[in-house]
Amino acid sequence: MSADIQLRNVSRRFGPTVALESVDLDIAAGEFIALVGPSGCGKTTLLRLVADLDQPSSGSVRIGGLPPATVRRQRQLGLVSQRPAVLPWKRAVEDVEFTQKVTGRAGLPARGLLRDFGLAGHEEKMPHHLSGGMLQRVNFASAIAHDPEVLLMDEPFSALDEMKREELGLWLGTELATRPKTVLFVTHHVDEAVLLADRVIVFSPAPGRILADIAVPSPRPRTAAFRTDPQFVALTDRIRGLLFGQWRAAA
Ligand SMILES: Nc1ncnc2c1ncn2[C@@H]1O[C@H](COP(=O)(O)OP(=O)(O)OP(=O)(O)O)[C@@H](O)[C@H]1O
Ligand SMILES: [Mg+2]
Repeated sequence: MSADIQLRNVSRRFGPTVALESVDLDIAAGEFIALVGPSGCGKTTLLRLVADLDQPSSGSVRIGGLPPATVRRQRQLGLVSQRPAVLPWKRAVEDVEFTQKVTGRAGLPARGLLRDFGLAGHEEKMPHHLSGGMLQRVNFASAIAHDPEVLLMDEPFSALDEMKREELGLWLGTELATRPKTVLFVTHHVDEAVLLADRVIVFSPAPGRILADIAVPSPRPRTAAFRTDPQFVALTDRIRGLLFGQWRAAA
């Protein structure tokens, strides 16, 4: 399948709360999209609609022209949440193998994947014997073990310290160069969004609407050196202006 994603006039209301309003978004197959915006603007809601964990009140979501439910049944979705969703009673390698068992797709070899993720020698450890960064990498390995075309990530690095966060971000960039996927990545971290994404979508405060769709016209994967690139500085500045401008206006 071609895993392009298309949102057409998507709204999601929860009773009187409008979480998303008339969102139109086109994502090409293989593109890395970062979603940024103030708390409560509907980022997680949007991700859940694409993941088939929720349905829009109106409008449509399509992945490769198909409804998310179909794509989920085809096991083409990988989901990484904010907190590692690893199973506390399973060793690292068993956690990765469990995804393959549940999805019925052999996908990628579990041990090879853990090695690629810098976890050689830690395959047999229980979650409580792994550091936070290692745990999140096991979480990633489990999310992509069945080799899905679409990877949905909701603030995957927010539980990590700044150094680990940057290290894992750069690692994710190189990992995706090896195994390209269509990526939707929610973050509050403007630098991280610009470092990793092809496009940064900036949301307005609730009700969530797309305020700006900003391309980062530099090839991926990028290195830490991109942080000093004038393009990086200009883009992060522009996005901060949009976000802080909103917050000042909302205060
Ligand atoms: N299941 C639900 N029932 C009722 N309201 C909900 C539900 N899910 C989300 N909402 C509301 O929808 C709005 C958007 O929530 P959402 O979690 O998508 O925001 P977010 O942008 O991910 O925020 P954050 O950055 O804090 O994670 C909020 O007002 C939230 O309270
Ligand atoms: Mg959220």
